[in-house]
Amino acid sequence: MPEDKTNTLSFETNPSHNPTGKPSGKLWDAIILGAGAAGLMAGITAAGRGKRVLVLDHARKAGEKIRISGGGRCNFTNLDASAKNYISNNPRFCISALKAYTPKDFVKLIDQHAIAWHEKAAGQLFCDESAKDVVAMLLDELEAAGGRLLLGTEIKVVEQRDGLFHVATSRGSEQARALVVATGGKSIPKMGATGLGYDIAKQFGLDVLPTRAALVPLTFSDSQKTFAAGLAGLSVDAEVRFGKVRFREGLLFTHRGLSGPSILQISAYWQEGRPVTIDLAPDGNCLETLIAARKSNPKQDIATSLSTLLPKRLAKAIAEREGMKGHIAEQGDKLLRKLDEVVHRWQVVPVGTEGYRTAEVTLGGVDTKGLSSKTMQANAMPGLYFIGEVVDVTGQLGGYNFQWAWASGVAAGRAL
Ligand code: FDA
Repeated sequence: MPEDKTNTLSFETNPSHNPTGKPSGKLWDAIILGAGAAGLMAGITAAGRGKRVLVLDHARKAGEKIRISGGGRCNFTNLDASAKNYISNNPRFCISALKAYTPKDFVKLIDQHAIAWHEKAAGQLFCDESAKDVVAMLLDELEAAGGRLLLGTEIKVVEQRDGLFHVATSRGSEQARALVVATGGKSIPKMGATGLGYDIAKQFGLDVLPTRAALVPLTFSDSQKTFAAGLAGLSVDAEVRFGKVRFREGLLFTHRGLSGPSILQISAYWQEGRPVTIDLAPDGNCLETLIAARKSNPKQDIATSLSTLLPKRLAKAIAEREGMKGHIAEQGDKLLRKLDEVVHRWQVVPVGTEGYRTAEVTLGGVDTKGLSSKTMQANAMPGLYFIGEVVDVTGQLGGYNFQWAWASGVAAGRAL
């Protein structure tokens, strides 16, 4: 969409189209675009301070990504969240908001609503029952604070004139003193993700950094795929490295390539055309194990020796791929060293990722250099705020993205 110097943005060919709605006639203190994690939190915070708040979303239900998150249990925060867990062109931008609204603050809210939770891995907090409890909590809070929510509402035109923001929607026009953009990233378009927030940022002269799918499975070329597909469904504890970044978590073989937490984590750092290095047995020493097996059990099949370190299926597939057959006694040191290399330093160059279709988040987005780190307000446009995933702040896997959504939402909500 071309940049519009009049600060008017049209999201369809006929912006005057207004099929159903009537304008509310109200002047809102803030209109929030997007009823996801960040938008609802901003709405609750601002409405709780007595502000007249309208939250708009084109989806038929609020908080859909919360509902499907964490395998339906929502990893709603991480107790260790700090700037080191986030990727951004300005890694310090998130500090102020994260300090002003901490994981413990969110846990307090969860406890007030008697939502049972547990710590799964270090610091990662999940609902005991269902992610729907978090959505219900946010909707209850918004209603109790007096915030208004309009779902199934298309955003057609956003304008700024006479000191007010005018939002033309499929239900009529709304006006507010402030506009909060909380429309998220591009991941999972079939759940309603759009690039609206980026278009609005550009309309008002903010820079948008290139976006990319992240926390996403990596895909293989046809030749590599045959190996991975044969192992589809198998998972191992692995250490995955890219440059200086490393993660030790589960790795899952898939029909398309690799997935699992360690791979999703590294996908946020991986650069196209370059290899990731994988240690498939981080607690073992392959060379020592095989040399010992050659002495103690010379007639053992090579794949069986390898299976003391790796799941049987994987051991067999690696031995086959490397063309190693027969007894371990028949394998020279050079071959054993080669096996050691592929087990502990398997270098693989993915051809790509599964993209926005399955990605949990979007890297890049609204450049933080145009925003206040305390309030999320655009420096050059008083009254305009960007929060949540639409901003160039992306968390690692493990509850960090929701903590950013809550914290940036609260930062804006307190400033509105
Ligand atoms: P979010 O995407 O939540 O909300 C944006 C809202 O804007 C949506 O309701 C959308 O409908 C609306 N919208 C978009 N375009 C619009 C338009 N044109 N007009 C009107 N409305 C529009 N994170 C985490 O910390 N722990 C976890 O367990 C998980 N798990 C997880 C699983 C899966 C499958 C995914 C896809 C993602 C996660 N995440 C996660 C990431 C997390 O869901 C994400 O970072 C937050 O939801 C971002 O919150 P936002 O409010 O910024 O965007």
